[in-house]
Amino acid sequence: MERLQKVMAHAGIASRRKAEQLILEGRVKVNGETVRELGRKVSPEDFIEVDGKPIREEKKVYILLNKPVGYISTVDDPRGRRTVLDLVADVKERVYPVGRLDYDTSGLLILTNDGELTYKLTHPSFEVKKTYLVEVEGKPGKELARLEKGVMLSDGMTAPAAVAEVKTGKNSTSFLLTIHEGRNRQVRRMCEAIGYPVKSLKRIKFAFLELGDLPEGRYRYLTEKEIKMLQSLT
Ligand code: URA
Repeated sequence: MERLQKVMAHAGIASRRKAEQLILEGRVKVNGETVRELGRKVSPEDFIEVDGKPIREEKKVYILLNKPVGYISTVDDPRGRRTVLDLVADVKERVYPVGRLDYDTSGLLILTNDGELTYKLTHPSFEVKKTYLVEVEGKPGKELARLEKGVMLSDGMTAPAAVAEVKTGKNSTSFLLTIHEGRNRQVRRMCEAIGYPVKSLKRIKFAFLELGDLPEGRYRYLTEKEIKMLQSLT
């Protein structure tokens, strides 16, 4: 969130001081409502108009990042940890992550400055599928079927999910889990609920997008075709 006058100044509307004056004169609207106070903060999703005209929009960019463990996926961290934005520092548009991956989770994360698409892709009603490569301690065997049916978490039952490619090692088991919800730490909590805590977690697929051979810590821009396909999902 940033102060409205700062965002206006960045968009090339006016100096910050002039922007403050425009606000006080009642010439600025946020999401259709006139704002008259200078303390107002806005996010990249907010729609800002000056004298009825939308402020210049940044070019929309869409990035697919292979997030390593050890980065948080919020835009800044009060504890000073590294954020996923550090990995796209050479992108000049102000992008932000579509949903979150935990600090300890790696894999596919989309970043964009398209607030409308972000909203849709993260809204539960669109049921975008996400596939995770999960490694748990021990050998859950048929307990995995419970993940598919739904397990009770503190915030309610999980929706049906799909388990595939189960591989049993000496002391651990790996499998693919596909879910279409996006609750906080959902996969970790689901595995805990069946008594098999997660050892490692990597998202390998988001809707139809896959990590492919993109190295950890690197990103690529989505193609026009991929952007269109994402937009048509919602
Ligand atoms: N589920 C989790 O538990 N963590 C993630 O980062 C993503 C899904």
